[in-house]
Amino acid sequence: MWPFRTSVKFTDMDFRTDVHSHILPGVDDGFGSEKNSVKALQLLHEIGLEHSILTPHIYPELYPENTKDKILGRFDEVSSALSATGVTCRVAGEHMVYAGIDSSFQRGNAADSLQLGEGSLLIEMSYAYESQNIKDFVFHLNALGFQPVLAHPERYSYYSRSLVEIRTIVDIDTRLQLNILSLGGFYGNTAKEKAEAILERGLYTYVGTDLHSLAQIDQLKSMRIQRKHVAALEKLLENNEELWNS
Ligand SMILES: [Fe+2]
Repeated sequence: MWPFRTSVKFTDMDFRTDVHSHILPGVDDGFGSEKNSVKALQLLHEIGLEHSILTPHIYPELYPENTKDKILGRFDEVSSALSATGVTCRVAGEHMVYAGIDSSFQRGNAADSLQLGEGSLLIEMSYAYESQNIKDFVFHLNALGFQPVLAHPERYSYYSRSLVEIRTIVDIDTRLQLNILSLGGFYGNTAKEKAEAILERGLYTYVGTDLHSLAQIDQLKSMRIQRKHVAALEKLLENNEELWNS
């Protein structure tokens, strides 16, 4: 790294743990074959990745087969091939906040959830419409002792650049996860600008790839991080490590 450079390559950063990806093959809109999942992890290992939390979508309306048992069963089938890449994987889920989800998170069956780490649940919403029950669901999760982690808030079109809605979500005890490719502008300028603003205000806790395809690894490799964002991003990478170890 040259001290006068205004940016650094993302691949030169200490990216050892990914907390969000769709690498588990054949369960959602991410990777479709074990071969490509293995390839993805090999390529990520070459740029330093050691641990990966696989987070298939859990949304009964779109993926009715993605129950905890189905996802764990699929992981069992491929885990040895995935681990042979040098990246140790575990499986969690990305839970869509849909109307009625509260009933699937009652105290008695809370252990049925697929957690990122001890008590942490990755949740998401539609890119176009805010889930009407998001605040109630967060309160519900908190009451059950879960820590909600909202995926890629910078991509939600209904969250303004002023960050007023995002601050409200953080204030009710939700952690935020940045999609790293947002900082590279791969989801458009608006998502990029919001990602920068959220990062600069210290509102993110974790960072993930949300990887759906091999092509996104090329995007990852091409990314440069502005020097003014490096320290904040390093902190998120450290938090990823802590989550992995929890
Ligand atoms: Fe995702």
